Amino acid sequence: MDFPFDINQLFSERISILDQNLSASRRSMERPDLQVQISAVIDELGRASAKAQQLAAPVTSASKLQSQNHQLYLLKDRESGGGRGSAVGFLKVGYKKLFLLDQHGVHVEAEPLCVLDFYIAENLQRHGYGLELFSFMLQHKNVEPVLMAYDRPSKKFLAFLAKHYCLVQSVPQVNNFVVFEGFFLNRSAVH
Ligand code: ACO
Repeated sequence: MDFPFDINQLFSERISILDQNLSASRRSMERPDLQVQISAVIDELGRASAKAQQLAAPVTSASKLQSQNHQLYLLKDRESGGGRGSAVGFLKVGYKKLFLLDQHGVHVEAEPLCVLDFYIAENLQRHGYGLELFSFMLQHKNVEPVLMAYDRPSKKFLAFLAKHYCLVQSVPQVNNFVVFEGFFLNRSAVH
């Protein structure tokens, strides 16, 4: 995804971690013009993700990121975009207090790390970029995919989880979150 400004200037790393401060570096925090551009990138990616998932409205935008305690991992490609770089996709995660049903239908309260939004640009899907982002996040958060919850996962994302992490058997829930068998093992939970 190309932008009329220098993506490499905004995001120095291949994968940047953005939070409420919307900053990829101390420099961008101190430069309102760069903050505007970072917001434009997040908004555009959020819109594209919503469109890809046929959602009525984006679940990711710069203003939402500023008001919620979530983390957004943004993957760029340094070489494309005529040397200015381009945005490849993003993964947004955050902790949520959830009321879940275990395998026996017993209510369990938990606060797992959740995947809230995930998008790779259309023409770049199925090239391994999603896996690169996801595995980076797992390392950064030091978490296993089976211990995470997934907010309204799309068919493509379910196929992704099955292929890369052998997550196939979900435990039925009454909300939009999906958790897989193994989620409730070794979990200290409040019943
Ligand atoms: N149809 C079926 N499975 C797909 C598709 C597709 N069009 N695209 C990706 N996958 C799955 C498959 O398992 C695929 O393996 P395969 O090609 O051998 O069948 C695997 O993902 C490929 O892995 P990556 O290349 O690492 O994944 P990718 O870079 O495509 O990223 C993602 C996966 C983020 C789901 C991407 O396809 C995408 O952006 N899709 C559209 C938006 C979307 O559905 N996002 C998830 C929203 S749900 C949520 O965020 C909680």
